[in-house]
This record gives sequence, C-alpha cells and structure tokens, in this order.
Amino acid sequence: MGNPAFADIGACVFDAYGTLFDVHSAVRRGGGALGDKADKVSALWRQKQLEYTWLRSLMGAHADFWQVTSEGLDYALTANGIKDSKLHARLMDLYLRLDAYPDVTDALTRLRAGGKKTAILSNGAPKMLEAAVASAGLTDLLDAALSVEDVGIYKPDRRVYQLAVERLAMAPGRICFVSTNAWDAAGAAHFGFRVAWMNRFGQIPERLPGKPAAVIESLSELPALLGL
Ligand code: LAC
Repeated sequence: MGNPAFADIGACVFDAYGTLFDVHSAVRRGGGALGDKADKVSALWRQKQLEYTWLRSLMGAHADFWQVTSEGLDYALTANGIKDSKLHARLMDLYLRLDAYPDVTDALTRLRAGGKKTAILSNGAPKMLEAAVASAGLTDLLDAALSVEDVGIYKPDRRVYQLAVERLAMAPGRICFVSTNAWDAAGAAHFGFRVAWMNRFGQIPERLPGKPAAVIESLSELPALLGL
C-alpha cells in the first residue's frame, strides 16, 4: 500500500545535481590542493552556481549551466584567495563525472521494474547531463534527460516543469518529482507535481509556496511510496 497522494503515478522525474549526483564529489576527488579550504570552496561554488541561475533568470540574461557553473567556481576560488586555472579546469572536468549517490541505481531499477517511467529534469546543459549519466552508468535506467536549455530559463520557472509534462505526455498529477533541493521541491509542488522532497541532509523546509506531498530521506524509500 503506497501513499495515497502517489496513487496514480506514471513517471518519476528527478532533479540531477544534489539529488542523483553528489556535487561535492568534484572537490573531494580533485581539490586536494585546496587543503582545509576544500569544503568552503565546494559549498560556495554550489551556492553561487544556484544564485547565478536565479539572478540570470530574473535579469533575462540566460547562459547555460556549464558557463554558470564555471563562473560560480571562479567566484568561489577567488573569494578564497585562489588563482589556479589548472585547478579550475580540473574541477570543471570532474563536474562531468560526478559520483552518483549509492541509492540511485537500485531505486531506478525498481521503479522501472514496477512499470514507471524515469527521467531527469535539470538545470544542467545537455552535454553535462549526458556525460554525468553515462559516467554513472545510468543511461539504460532513464527514459529521458530533460534540460532547461530547451526553454532557456532556470528552475523554478514554471516553463521548466511544464517541459516534463510535454515530453512525457503526462498530466502533472501523474508525475512524481523528486529533489533534494528544497526550493526545487517547492517550485515543483507549486507547479502541480506530486513531490517527494528527498531530505538527504536533514534540512528544515523552505518558507515558500508549494508543499511536498511526502518527505523521504533516501531514494530507497521511493518505490514503497508509490506502492511498489
Ligand atoms: C538541477 C539543480 C537544481 O539539477 O540541482 O537542476
């Protein structure tokens, strides 16, 4: 018996960065030169990357996620007094091969065995998503990797979530959207998806419109939520 809010789900749509892929694995694997600044740089990199997506969307000045990610890293390194173009290039390259979280493969396999479609809906540029999916061995476990590049604006703009509705040809109420990013979970719920906020990091809920229908702590809880 699943959660009644997820009774008629046809597809699970996942956020990519922070949800399927560990964004901090780039600095963990290639940021040895950062020493005790590693965690600070990685956190600021992620923070600026996201801020730039929201700001560029408000400014009407879209640039793809590869550029925004590069500029966020540039800010984070400079803010920590580091000027090292080789390190910048190495960390960007590692962003194409981020570690998938250990619960990802099994959850996707079980969802597909249960007849659900699976897809990514992400800020990531198509070449970033393609590389990360292939490097994590997830290509055969996903029906689609949808990128905001097809609408030219970032989450949580409604046009991004609408893209999944159109590409999957499924009503919002039949789509289970899963994100670790609480603001993305809020945006998707406000749009009309059935949202499972995957609270991997024990964060408190955002004070935003759009409430997730369920909160889970690991992707391994997802099949049961859907009654599988
Ligand atoms: C994404 C960012 C929000 O993958 O993590 O869309």
